[in-house]
Amino acid sequence: MRVPQWAFHLAIFLAFLAEIRGFLMEIKCKLWAGNGYIGDPSDCQAWGFCQDNKLIDRNGCNEGLLYNFRKGTCDKAADVMCHSNLAEICTNLQLGYYAADPANCRRFVKCDAIDDPIWGDCGEDQVFNNKLQRCVQETSGCPQDNICSYMKDGSFMGDPNSCQGYYKCHNGFAIEMNCSTGRYFNRKSGNCQSWLPDYCSKDDEIAPETPLSTNFHICSKYYQRDLSGVQLLPDLKTCYGYYACTSELDLGRWSSCPWGQHFEWWSQRCGEPKDNSCSYDRCGNMNQLKVTTINTGCREYTVCQNYRSRRSEKCPEDFPYFNEISQRCTDKFPNHRVCYMDG
Ligand SMILES: *[C@@H]1O[C@H](CO)[C@@H](O)[C@H](O)[C@H]1NC(C)=O
Repeated sequence: MRVPQWAFHLAIFLAFLAEIRGFLMEIKCKLWAGNGYIGDPSDCQAWGFCQDNKLIDRNGCNEGLLYNFRKGTCDKAADVMCHSNLAEICTNLQLGYYAADPANCRRFVKCDAIDDPIWGDCGEDQVFNNKLQRCVQETSGCPQDNICSYMKDGSFMGDPNSCQGYYKCHNGFAIEMNCSTGRYFNRKSGNCQSWLPDYCSKDDEIAPETPLSTNFHICSKYYQRDLSGVQLLPDLKTCYGYYACTSELDLGRWSSCPWGQHFEWWSQRCGEPKDNSCSYDRCGNMNQLKVTTINTGCREYTVCQNYRSRRSEKCPEDFPYFNEISQRCTDKFPNHRVCYMDG
């Protein structure tokens, strides 16, 4: 029998759907900022092994055992929960039924419309239950498959549809998170960074935000009432700008540190960038070609261009530490404050 052309296209479309909706192990490895075992969303007995964002091995548990994703071992079938993907779920549901988003079971969609979805939202602490066809109180993660199903607790997964978003996994449940202003999620390290990661296209680049010269809310939000006098608050967009507030009712007025300095909230002054682990773009407000990359214990440096971070590079093994003052990798730990703090 000749297979009609439409069936061929449908098969490709379904494979495509499975890929973006079902989170195959290859996709999970690509999104997971970690190495080790993961469960196979298409087979409860199977597991995979991720390394450097690639699936390098896959196998199955012995007869009668299922893969337990929380422990990373094969366990008795009765003790292990099993999930499936949205395309599969919909084929098993009646016409006109709704299904939860596999990436985020707080929202749901009509199965007839998964290629052009209009999402319904369950609201706070609620998740969509496909069986009951309604939102229920969230108690132990998603009632069905999602991006964190079969992932160990504490895993960080990049959002496949965004360069800033990521998920923190707990009990197979995905908690949605975003990097702070102007930063991107790194699917290798699990940190947020100021430069565009390899997997993002130039179109995903966020134009740097210029802080407003006055800010209505910052004083009322962050001015510490138990202290008095002028308080300087970070602008939450750059490493070198700050707002001055004289009271919680004040309008915050923006100022910049002198050229070559970054703002230190804890000391309420501008200081040397090397003593300041700011999580915004560390290339700003100074003429450096390289700056220390935060979260690396001074083992990596960020290459700057036009006062913006472009990429991060590791120091070589025999000169493992980057010194921001000498602008070189050295064998001596520089003991700058930026080496100790994470952000
Ligand atoms: C993350 O950012 C996106 C896009 O701006 C937004 O739609 C989403 O609600 C944010 N999520 C969280 C948890 O802040």
